[in-house]
Amino acid sequence: MAKKQIEPPVPADMMPQHIAIIMDGNGRWAKKRGMPRTFGHVQGAKTFHKLLRHAREIGVKYMSFYAFSTENWKRPDDEVHALMNLFRQYVKLAYKYFDDRVRVVLLGDKQDFEPDLQKMFTDLEHDTGEFEKMTAGIAANYGSRREITDAAKRIARLVQDGKLQPDDITEELFAQHLYTAGMPDVDLMIRPGGEQRLSNFLLWQCAYAEFYFCDTLFPDFNGDELDKAIVEFARRTRRFGGL
Ligand code: FPP
Repeated sequence: MAKKQIEPPVPADMMPQHIAIIMDGNGRWAKKRGMPRTFGHVQGAKTFHKLLRHAREIGVKYMSFYAFSTENWKRPDDEVHALMNLFRQYVKLAYKYFDDRVRVVLLGDKQDFEPDLQKMFTDLEHDTGEFEKMTAGIAANYGSRREITDAAKRIARLVQDGKLQPDDITEELFAQHLYTAGMPDVDLMIRPGGEQRLSNFLLWQCAYAEFYFCDTLFPDFNGDELDKAIVEFARRTRRFGGL
């Protein structure tokens, strides 16, 4: 039987180009079911994968997922360990979905990961580097202030070495030194899980983003929920420039 085509929730010219999502609420989702937090992450990872494929089918070009912050290392060892193993598992899975032609970009500092995981991430970025259907940004060991500070350091070194003049530093040049270099700004930032804050995610890139918050815990945030957020985004931006 032919696969059912998924319809985009809004016309193509009203779709957000870049959607970012904070995958919050895995722990609470598991607790509600009397299960360990790590079970929530396993479920969250499944949701991540379904959402990514849904976004691709409806024509989203860039989607960034907040998977692990620079602060998340402070969580109990077993939880950190479980998350690292999920990353390994999903990197491997990505190779089974090459026909989807999704380019994967790691947003974050890889150096703090175990060497094998660093290599897996680097290889996946390389091996999907030419894919053109969609770009998935996976924020792992990510912190926005660290990203911005590191960009400032790199630019300062270029000035110090005489390769750049202070007046050459424009917003565009600065953006090229962020992990998201080459990606457009975020149009729609989604946070399920009931909290209404940015938690150090893509501060620079969200300068003009629309924000969408909802109480659904991330493991339950399915394609329909994503469509709802996109419809709300289109409703808001339709008024762009108008009264
Ligand atoms: C925050 O919810 C969630 C995380 C810190 C981890 C997110 C990771 C995944 C969804 C799975 C792995 C991702 C990939 C890309 C394979 P929380 O657990 O802090 O929720 P809580 O507020 O209910 O405790």
